[in-house]
Order: sequence, then C-alpha cells, then structure tokens
Amino acid sequence: MSDDEMRPAGLEGVFTDGERLYTRNSAPGKTVYGERLVTHEGVQYREWVPTRSKLAAYIRAGGRFFPFRPGTNVLYLGAASGTTASHVADIVTPGTVYCVEISPRSFRDLVPVCESRPNMVPFLADATKPSEYAFAVSSVDVVYQDIAQKGQAQIFLKNFSAFGAKSGLLVIKSRSEDVTQDPLRTYEASRKQLLSGGLRVEEVVRLDPMEKDHAMIAVTSG
Ligand SMILES: C[S@@+](CC[C@H](N)C(=O)[O-])C[C@H]1O[C@@H](n2cnc3c(N)ncnc32)[C@H](O)[C@@H]1O
Repeated sequence: MSDDEMRPAGLEGVFTDGERLYTRNSAPGKTVYGERLVTHEGVQYREWVPTRSKLAAYIRAGGRFFPFRPGTNVLYLGAASGTTASHVADIVTPGTVYCVEISPRSFRDLVPVCESRPNMVPFLADATKPSEYAFAVSSVDVVYQDIAQKGQAQIFLKNFSAFGAKSGLLVIKSRSEDVTQDPLRTYEASRKQLLSGGLRVEEVVRLDPMEKDHAMIAVTSG
C-alpha cells in the first residue's frame, strides 16, 4: 500500500483507504471475525465492516458523535463475541472496555478475544442488573449498548447513571420493542425516554439498509 492510501477518516482512531473503514490493530496479527488486515508504514490496521458492526454502520450512515479517545473507559453492554468491542478497544487503548454479555455461548467466543487484548475485560452477566459487574467497574466515561431485548432505553439509563457515564451510544432494535410498530415511532419513543431520564440526545441515526429497522442514539449527560 502506498503512503497516501491510509488516512484518518475524520473520527478519532478511525481510518480509511478511501473506500473501507479501519482501526489500528492493538493485537497485531490477530483477527476477530475474519476481517482483512492491512499494514501501512509499519502499522497494522483491521478492516471495520459496517455490515458486521453497528458502530461502523453508524459512521457510514453519517453519525458524527463519537466519544471514543485513547484512554476512554467504556462499558459495553451486549458484547456478543467481541466484533465491535474489539474495534472500540483498538481506539481507546490504553482505556478499558468492560464487556458484558449474557449468553454463555457468545461469552465462550468473547473470552479469547479479551485474552489477546488486555484492555478488554469480559463479564458473563445481565445488563439489566448492573450490580452483577459493579464489583469490578467503578466508573466509566462512555456506555455503549447493543442488546436485542425489550426496554433498551431503560436498561441504558440504569447503567448510565450507575457508572457515572458522561456520554453514550445506544442501538435501538425496533423489533425488540414492538414488532408491529413503525420503527420511526419506536426510535422517537426511545428518544423521549432518554430525555425524560435527564440525558441530552445528540443524534439519532438510522442504520438502514446496513442494519434493517435499527437506529443509533447518541447521548450526553446533559
Ligand atoms: C446484536 S448482539 C451484539 C453484537 C455486538 N454488539 C457487536 O456489534 O459485535 C446482542 C447481544 O446482546 C446480548 N444480550 C441480550 N440481552 C442481554 C442482557 N440483558 N445482558 C447482556 N447481554 C445481553 C445477546 O446475547 C447478544 O449477544
């Protein structure tokens, strides 16, 4: 790859070759979900695939509220096998990503990803019960949530205040709230719940067509 083929994408820690998105690989030589590795001027980058990661889809869809910096501590709810959480970990190194996942099956895949990235800490726990991981997480800067279950905004609010976060990103899967309701109404209802919970809503970005009937809501502590 020549010198001008990898450049900052305009958001902290996110790069582009003009077509694809990348993060710096904080575990050189390792992939997490079969993504491409590219070396440029001695630095290894991992492709960040928008159809596999809703945070990359958010960037592709024009999302610009991006609270991740080197040193940011993140509570990540619904880490699954670590696809998006690993990219967040690349960006916030040396900050910590606390990864909460309820499914033992996904957790089994998450653990080796965390083993190769010392700033990812896995918890087999339920995001509706912050007390299950509060023993190890004192406070965080950012809450990122992507859990497909009813009551997404309420679960987010509970964690946001429990850990003193200042900003966050919340994926709303419309069908998890109400399969029959127009997704736009569901996003609006979630936005209002977050406002009622005292948060300031910075952006609501629909993720279609990369993630059908999903939106990302970006918030600050208001
Ligand atoms: C859509 S997947 C997450 C994908 C992941 N965020 C990514 O981009 O790589 C949703 C995950 O949330 C988990 N989940 C659902 N309810 C949860 C809860 N109450 N607490 C923790 N995790 C939960 C599911 O087991 C599933 O792995």
